Amino acid sequence: MSDGGTSRTGVSGHGDARKTAEGLTYLSGFGNEHSSEAVPGALPEGRNSPQRAPLGLYAEQLSGTAFTEPRDRNRRSWLYRIRPSAAHPAFTRTDNGALRTAPFTETVPDPNRLRWNPLPEPAPGTDFLAGLWTLGGNGDASQRTGIAVHLYHANASMDRVFSDADGELLIVPERGGLLLRTEFGLLHAEPGHVALIPRGVRFRVELLDGSARGYVCENYGAPFRLPDLGPIGANGLANPRDFRAPVAAYEDVEGPVEVVNKYCGNLWTATYDHSPLDVVAWHGNYTPYVYDLRRFNVIGTISYDHPDPSIFTVLTSPSDSPGLANVDFVVFAPRWLVGEDTFRPPYFHRNVMSEYMGLIEGAYDAKAEGFVPGGGSLHNMMSAHGPDRETFDKASSAELKPQKLDDGLAFMFETRWPVALTERAASADHLQQRYDDVWRGLERHFRAER
Ligand SMILES: [Fe+2]
Repeated sequence: MSDGGTSRTGVSGHGDARKTAEGLTYLSGFGNEHSSEAVPGALPEGRNSPQRAPLGLYAEQLSGTAFTEPRDRNRRSWLYRIRPSAAHPAFTRTDNGALRTAPFTETVPDPNRLRWNPLPEPAPGTDFLAGLWTLGGNGDASQRTGIAVHLYHANASMDRVFSDADGELLIVPERGGLLLRTEFGLLHAEPGHVALIPRGVRFRVELLDGSARGYVCENYGAPFRLPDLGPIGANGLANPRDFRAPVAAYEDVEGPVEVVNKYCGNLWTATYDHSPLDVVAWHGNYTPYVYDLRRFNVIGTISYDHPDPSIFTVLTSPSDSPGLANVDFVVFAPRWLVGEDTFRPPYFHRNVMSEYMGLIEGAYDAKAEGFVPGGGSLHNMMSAHGPDRETFDKASSAELKPQKLDDGLAFMFETRWPVALTERAASADHLQQRYDDVWRGLERHFRAER
């Protein structure tokens, strides 16, 4: 059972929010047909839309896929709420801040390897929404293809509510815990977890610490799902039961609440006379969720060669071409390296896909320095990359005894199309100017005669 209804909205203190976050219970399983009620009897039995819904609630369906999509990918939930979502005043345009949306036309896609330091400190009073800063992306939000890569840096809890009609938001905290109050209930995400807010779901982010920093993949394409496992078998990688959905919890609030809606690239605002986080019960398979990346079952070589990094896929958003992802979310989690006669770090390569990498903590095994938590790198389509010189030298001569790699947590958004930068990202002070130098010192060792 949830912590039920609350009669207030707005900002909790960090201590209160943390206490709430740490006491949460969840529903277990990826994409399950969950159901939850914050008040016993709020959920109708045997039908979705009875003539009169229980307890005087309004019944409302939220569709994340077309009504007619195949059953194995159909996502929808039924919400039983104090007021229907339709009860709202007109939205008016508001400033987009540093948030940008595909198609990205401010700059041309750049074949260079690029790397950024963390975002600078935000101005006091910056909440999660105001703290979103778009690095770039691809595709076209209104055509439901492609992604945006955002970073966030916030130092205040939201006292407004946000929803994104353009895509789902995969939030990857790097610093500072988050309490996510959603229409479906509450979620707790710390660095090392990921949280997913489906397209269109209203939510508010409260900070559990003085500030919060991290990454967001805004996925305009098909909702993330678990990858097929093929010969791996029925288990492994991210296990379905480790994905946690909220239990129903609602706000019974009369009074002005600002609701911001991201719609085809622009922010729109309306002041409701009630909180839209007023869902008393719900059922369905279209829900927010959290996942602890440390639960990822890492699979790698026990003979030789580094497998292709697709072996580390946590979630995938498929495209219409089999095996070709709109975007994959990939994690480089702690693991053992045991390959014999093997260059163990990720190999040199050029890739038809485009790779944005971020670091949640520690260090990444292909970069000895310069790639720092909160920073990120972009290796766009066909750009040549791989270990830096220091890593190459070390790994080429290392004694190949079993080695535990447990000092870092890195991730990648790997997407089908080149990522074009925003003007802000291309001209940012925190864009590193000499990233190419990490490969400059790679000497020739070739001799035609052995
Ligand atoms: Fe790569």
